[in-house]
This record gives sequence, C-alpha cells and structure tokens, in this order.
Amino acid sequence: MKKEFPKGFLWGASTSAYQVEGAAYEDGKKASQQDVINHENYEKHGFANADIASDHYHHFKEDVALMKEMGFSAYRFSIAWSRVFPDGVGDVNEKGIQFYRDLIDELIRNDIEPIVTLYHYDLPWTLVEKYDGWIDRQVVADFEYYARYVINEFKDKVKYWTTINEQSIIVQYIEQKCFIPEKYRGNNQIRYQINHHMNLAHAIACKLVHELVPGGMVGAALGYAPVYPLSSSPQDMMAAQNAHDLRNAFYLDIYFKGFYTKSAMIYLEEHGLAPVIEPGDMELIEEGESDFLALNYYYSDCAKACPLDAGKEISYGGVNLSGKKGEMSGFETHPGFYEMCKNPNLDTTDWDWSIDPTGLEYLFRDIYMRYNKPLMITENGMGAFDTLTEDGKIHDDYRIQYLREHIKAMKRAMDYGVEILAYCPWSALDLISTSNGVKKRYGFIYVDRTDDDPKECKRLKKDSFYWYQKVLKSNGDELD
Ligand code: BG6
Repeated sequence: MKKEFPKGFLWGASTSAYQVEGAAYEDGKKASQQDVINHENYEKHGFANADIASDHYHHFKEDVALMKEMGFSAYRFSIAWSRVFPDGVGDVNEKGIQFYRDLIDELIRNDIEPIVTLYHYDLPWTLVEKYDGWIDRQVVADFEYYARYVINEFKDKVKYWTTINEQSIIVQYIEQKCFIPEKYRGNNQIRYQINHHMNLAHAIACKLVHELVPGGMVGAALGYAPVYPLSSSPQDMMAAQNAHDLRNAFYLDIYFKGFYTKSAMIYLEEHGLAPVIEPGDMELIEEGESDFLALNYYYSDCAKACPLDAGKEISYGGVNLSGKKGEMSGFETHPGFYEMCKNPNLDTTDWDWSIDPTGLEYLFRDIYMRYNKPLMITENGMGAFDTLTEDGKIHDDYRIQYLREHIKAMKRAMDYGVEILAYCPWSALDLISTSNGVKKRYGFIYVDRTDDDPKECKRLKKDSFYWYQKVLKSNGDELD
C-alpha cells in the first residue's frame, strides 16, 4: 500500500430499519410493506419476520456502545417512514420520531457520525392500500412530505443523507422489495415506472437537503455490480456493455447527469417497458444534484450474448433460497440484448454470490473517473451461516478474509486517485436478510436468535468484531 487512509476517513457499518429494529407495531408504528412481505416469507419459507428482527429498538444503547467499542466513526442506518408517519402522511408519531432523536443523540455523544438513509424498502402499508404504493405517482408527493419533515428535524445533527436504497436491486427483485398487488404481477413495465417515481423522489430529497441542511451532503445508495463479459468474444463484450447500460449506467446517469442512458431507454421502449415520463419530470431530475454516491457492493456479475432466436423470454434476477451452492433459481435474460450468467473464474458464497474484491477496485475506478464525484461504501459484506460455539464464540474467519480483501481493493482505488469518504460494510449487527431470514448472517455483532425463535436477542462479539476493532484503531493500516 502506498499512502495511509486519510485522517477523518469514516469507518463504521450499516443496517436498515426494518431489518434490525423490530417493535414493528409498538409506540404507534404501523405496518410497512416489509412487515407484510416478511410475514409472507415466514409462511412460505420459514424466514424470520420483521416483528422483532434484532430488537434494536430496545437494544439501541447497547448496540451503540458496541459500535463505540469497535471504534466506529460512522453508522449508516435508515429511518422507518411508518414509524414517523404511521399512515404515510398526516400527523407525526411523536414516540416514533423520538426513537430517532434518541438514537442520533446517542451516536453523536459517542462521536459516531450518523449517515441517514431516508428510504430502505419499507413503504408505509397504508400507502399500498390507498393507491398501490410506488406504482402510483401520488407516492412522490407523499415521500416529499415525509422527507421534508425528517430532514428538517435533523438538519443540525445529520450531515450525510442517502435518499433511496438500491433502486437497481428494486428493479431486479421487485416483489421482494416492494409489495406488488396481484393485478400487476408479471407486468415488467411497472419495474421501470416505480424506478421513475423513485428518481423523482430522490431528486426532491437532494433538493431538500441542499435547501435545509447547512453543509449537508446527499446522494443515493446504489446496489452496484460491475459486469464482465463471459468471454473475450465481441458478442459477449457487447452483451456486457448492454447489461452495464441497463443495470448500472441507467442509474449513474440519472444521479450524476440527470438523464436516462439512451441505449437502455431505446431497449425499454422497443419492448414496451419504458416508464411514462410527464412534462417537467426530467427538469426536476436534473435539478436534484447529488454530492456523492453511496455504493452497496457484494459481488460482480457476468454477461453473455443471448441471440433473439435462442427461444428465451425476458426474465429477471433469480435467488438462492436454500444457502446450498448452485441452487440459484435463474439469471436475468433480455433476448437480443444480454443474458447474465455465472462467472467461472470466481468462487461464491453459499448463496451463489460471487466473491470478487477486485470488482470493487474496478467499479471505484470506473465510476470515479467517469463522474468525478466522491464515493462511499454503505454496504459490502459476506452472508454466511455462523456457528455459535458452546463457550459463546463465533469464529468467522471467512468474513474477516472477505472484508480484508475488499478494504485492500478500496485502498488500491484510493491510491489511484479515487475520492472515498467512508467504509460502512454490511452489517453492524446480525439482522434479517432481505431474502434468506436470519440464518444468513452479516454482522460483526452476533444476535442470538433463530428464524423461529427470537429468544432474547443477546449480543455477542464475533472474531470479526475484534479484527475490525484493530483495523479501525490503526485507521486501516493493520489488516492482518
Ligand atoms: C442489499 C440491501 O441489497 O443487500 C440490504 O440493501 C440487504 O437490505 C443486503 O440485506 C444483503 O442482501 P440479503 O438478501 O442477503 O439480505
């Protein structure tokens, strides 16, 4: 390594509200769409629901103390819209907003910079019942109502704001991330319509931060996987370019340049998938300038050519529900454009996510050199089955190895000039995964519960906790 991490570099970790908080119906909070989706997941697959999650709502002081002990200088978390406005709009829920006041104050008391995400998949259920949620344009105005209140409330305490979590992943995994009423299921156009509404909401939130927060900085949190061609054939190379345009550039161009990537838009128009864009929308999107981009990076992707006459249909991302390697249910396919596939050069996690630290270096270089805005990591991590030993230890050397190599890759990108503000991997503590319950764990802090039994959610320190503590103490110097 050439230079040292800059002084003031933010080290921490991340969570999201519905995945850790629990207290899903307590102190005036009403259901979010994730409370409903996760109840269905429990019925269908036996994955823990969000009712108790990691019970962070009742343990937050203990959790912040553990973050402090690890040496965090930042913590990225989200605010649950339905805790603040149980019906989406209307009267604020005093006890709900008080929870976030207490959490933010506790962080600041411990010298931990709050990085706040306004929206992480959990739309108030009332808005789904009222007008089918993100499918309807009304959601943009309601989001503005909520965002204005929250940003104004914390304008003197929170400098870093992220707007919407992972629009790219929402488009891919629409039914996991948004409740889609029966009549819309299988309608792929709504993926891009919802995304368009989120682009408007994102732009509004950027403008609000600039209007209300002195010195505030704002950007989206984008789920990002660089796309490699399966081979060096020109056809695979072109497929990888197409996949990059539709899966990555389609979001980067909106956030940084205020327009939709043309090639992707033409593909969508040709297939009846393009969003309806109303007069004034693109002007608003252009006005919503980002100061940085937050990136959630877990794996890289791979694409190959998919000829039109291959007899395939448009399909979206598959999932591995079992945690047994090789059981991924399928790959996104757009005949005539690209088909995603497994990269034979990379090992994977038990859930078939490729492990590729160099992919992180590559994307940092690629994004920064094109758009020239600061970047931060708000997610990066390894989902694994952890084992709690009889003497209360968790030996997660695989996670240490994963994080160590990714930090090295991030540092190499910095050595080549990329401006990176923060590293907040996923996750500070164990939580409910969006697709696999609590048995797929990510945290530095072990939460003692199972999918069926929340027990007392006792906190225990994993080996990675002590390792990360050393990393942070040395400002990223001691990684081994
Ligand atoms: C990101 C999300 O997509 O990946 C998180 O922002 C999520 O909410 C994380 O938990 C890991 O994915 P999963 O499906 O393993 O929980």
